[in-house]
Amino acid sequence: MNSLFTFLLFASPSLPQIFAGTANKGEACNVANSRLQAGTYQFWSECNSVTFCNSTGLCDLKACRKDDFPFGYTTGSDILPPKCDKGEFCPDEGSGCLPQLEVGSPCQLNRDDQCLGPDNFKDLADTSGRGLNVNGSVCLNNVCMWANVTAGSACVVENTGYTGYGASGEFIDIVSRGNCQLGLYCDSQALQCMQSKDLGVACSADKECASFNCLTTNVCGETAATPRHFGIYVYILVALGIIGGMAGTLTGLFFAHRKQRDAEREKRAQYWREQNAFHQNLMNMRETARASILSLPKNGGSRDYTRDALDESSTPILHSGAPKASGLRNYLSDDGSSEFDDGPSYGGKRSDGRF
Ligand SMILES: *[C@@H]1O[C@H](CO)[C@@H](O)[C@H](O)[C@H]1NC(C)=O
Ligand SMILES: *[C@@H]1O[C@H](CO)[C@@H](O)[C@H](O)[C@H]1NC(C)=O
Ligand SMILES: *[C@@H]1O[C@H](CO)[C@@H](O)[C@H](O)[C@H]1NC(C)=O
Repeated sequence: MNSLFTFLLFASPSLPQIFAGTANKGEACNVANSRLQAGTYQFWSECNSVTFCNSTGLCDLKACRKDDFPFGYTTGSDILPPKCDKGEFCPDEGSGCLPQLEVGSPCQLNRDDQCLGPDNFKDLADTSGRGLNVNGSVCLNNVCMWANVTAGSACVVENTGYTGYGASGEFIDIVSRGNCQLGLYCDSQALQCMQSKDLGVACSADKECASFNCLTTNVCGETAATPRHFGIYVYILVALGIIGGMAGTLTGLFFAHRKQRDAEREKRAQYWREQNAFHQNLMNMRETARASILSLPKNGGSRDYTRDALDESSTPILHSGAPKASGLRNYLSDDGSSEFDDGPSYGGKRSDGRF
């Protein structure tokens, strides 16, 4: 299993090899085998990520670091080596802080910080964050220089091809650096410093553009970090969409609730009419009972008049024209009562004009 994993790891051509060596502290190593990894240009030695190969050919703990969070250390590691002071640098090996180097001295790839700055470093220093130089000095082709060459003068150029990994596979990203002053670039053919190009001017590489962005159409485009701005119409459309959505929801709910309310109101009105009809019947019954009691001969017998009256008065209930209970739901005739008519839609009419 382990050997299969190792095989896959090293057989896969698309995997960048970012691994350090395997030798631990005190184990033997050979300085001659140290190198920069192909494609990434990461420094590699036979020693593991926390040690370096010292002059006696043994792996020793690193004595300095250049990164805040160096590769190969766990967060809060107690063997984290110190960073170097101003005027010093930590070489890629991590073997210990060294004083910055004079112009013409050998330096390591992309380590502009290893070179001593010029006296007019304030004028030459790149503060754009694009890494054109560090404090006015550059390391080109492993030699310390100052980025002080003026337009039209001969310059030094260094092209490095890094391996990139995109959606369509591997590609080569060529980074071209020179020792021209800010606002100029070192042309790879003429080897002269040229003025950086403005937006819309034809270009063949990012470095030629002042914006550092040569589009695929071969004209200088805006800086890749330029924020995208939308027209005012987008904001208007979004606002209209939000307002329209809210209004639509409210209108829909209003109509849905109105339908529901009308149905409920109709049910209550129906119920009231039923109760009213019963009440009327009851009144009629009482009237009938009273009339029949009054019309009886006063013989003073022990007859239960009330029950008689009730028996008689049951007739009008059945024959008074009041609808039967089962049919009351569909009883819609207006009985003249409008106490339950609390909305404009009920019945469509106001016969009494009270509202
Ligand atoms: C190299 O590293 C080994 C192991 O840490 C150590 O014993 C030795 O003194 C080191 N040599 C030098 C010259 O520092
Ligand atoms: C830049 O270089 C000058 C001259 O060597 C030096 O005095 C200065 O401290 C450097 N500044 C930084 C930030 O390294
Ligand atoms: C420009 O820098 C070079 C080193 O790269 C140096 O030798 C030369 O004197 C500098 N020229 C000026 C005008 O500062």
